[in-house]
Amino acid sequence: MHTKTVRDYIRTIPDFPHEGILFRDVTTLFADARGMRLCVDQLLAPFAGTRIDAIAGLEARGFILGGAMAHQLGTGFVPVRKAGKLPGETFAQDYALEYGTATLEVHRDALPAGAKVLLVDDLLATGGTAKAGIALLERLGAEVVGCAFVIDLPDLGGRAALDAMGMPVHALCAFE
Ligand code: PRP
Ligand code: ADE
Repeated sequence: MHTKTVRDYIRTIPDFPHEGILFRDVTTLFADARGMRLCVDQLLAPFAGTRIDAIAGLEARGFILGGAMAHQLGTGFVPVRKAGKLPGETFAQDYALEYGTATLEVHRDALPAGAKVLLVDDLLATGGTAKAGIALLERLGAEVVGCAFVIDLPDLGGRAALDAMGMPVHALCAFE
């Protein structure tokens, strides 16, 4: 009997949000009880034995994963948000996307200096979002101990860019 992997739960939608993009849709993974649990367990597995003081999640789908991971690990959760959403004093970081540009923000008092943080998102493409998130967390004085993703799109170079920074990267599956 074939047991479904995390990758098997992900749906691909062509030409969203632009023609030529194969959109990897994790809503079908998150909606499935077994898929969601597999995902959270597998995202955390390689960091067992690593000190993690907090989970940081990238808006928007990193929030869904990060909240569940923080609950499982017994840590707090820090949101790294799109510009203009956080009410307190923030640091901001511009970044380039696979399609477009944007700004991410984090609360300046979100973490104490020296905190060890695991950064999570659903998908790694060019790595622009993850690199902006890492930069913001480092501006807080936190140490990013690794980045966890459900999906890696290796052809877009994000994995190579994070590897080149010496950042430990964990991805559950890849798509061409
Ligand atoms: C997607 C994805 C990652 C980012 C990865 O989010 O969830 O956050 O793109 O791309 P990158 O590695 O090239 O930076 P998106 O920007 O579509 O925003 P959303 O989560 O608000 O839909
Ligand atoms: N974010 C950037 N590229 C993406 C893709 N191909 N599918 C889903 N989310 C993305």
